[in-house]
Amino acid sequence: MKTRLSVNINKVALLRNSRLGNYPDLFQFAKDCEHFGAQGITIHPRPDQRHIRYSDVPILKALVTTELNIEGNPTPDFVNLVLDTLPAQCTLVPDAENVLTSDSGWDTIRNKSLLRDTVDRLHNAGIRVSLFVDPIPEMVNGAKETGADCVEFYTGDYAKLFSIDREKAVAPHIEAALIANDVELMINAGHDLNLKNLAYYKSAIPNLAEVSIGHAIVADALYYGIENVIQMYLHQLKT
Ligand code: PXP
Repeated sequence: MKTRLSVNINKVALLRNSRLGNYPDLFQFAKDCEHFGAQGITIHPRPDQRHIRYSDVPILKALVTTELNIEGNPTPDFVNLVLDTLPAQCTLVPDAENVLTSDSGWDTIRNKSLLRDTVDRLHNAGIRVSLFVDPIPEMVNGAKETGADCVEFYTGDYAKLFSIDREKAVAPHIEAALIANDVELMINAGHDLNLKNLAYYKSAIPNLAEVSIGHAIVADALYYGIENVIQMYLHQLKT
């Protein structure tokens, strides 16, 4: 299966926000990523707007020609933003307000009614919905019960263990992916994926639809430039 590369551009917004103005130009960066071959753009507006601002979102929606994926915690403000924007995909993430980065997935059983209501509202607007989950069988089955279309597996723990024992690192992802395949949930993945650990993940996971990658792509671009980096990540996904 072809796996889409969705570039998370939050880090570029963070750099921009460290000064006044729009440099680096977030919108040009999104267009260039698409031009260089990325099949999607991901943004994760957080409540403190420290990287993507709510005001960036309609501008990005107007210019993205691949798939816009908006990630976030389904607060009323966030859900209204998504419903006003109508992205191709919305990924619901259980972020606490002041968290540095998303570091675990939903408990899809305990949060079933919140998730089901949100999935219904987003589906009524024609938006594909993904739930950020740890690779745990019960959480995948719970995601299915909310009516979501996809799960996004949290790969932070995979990335941590990869250099020590890659087979052990990927094992829970394979098990959870087989369940997702069985119940017909699409599979996305993200967090701490990079040029070292991406190809192995892609080769191990049956039917990986999308990876969203931000931190490593932007960091690698400091050395190689964004055009080269997108090619390098696309190459990892060909294996
Ligand atoms: N997926 C989710 C839900 C995230 O919150 C993030 C980070 O914003 C990513 C993927 C991308 O992670 P990274 O920046 O480590 O590539």
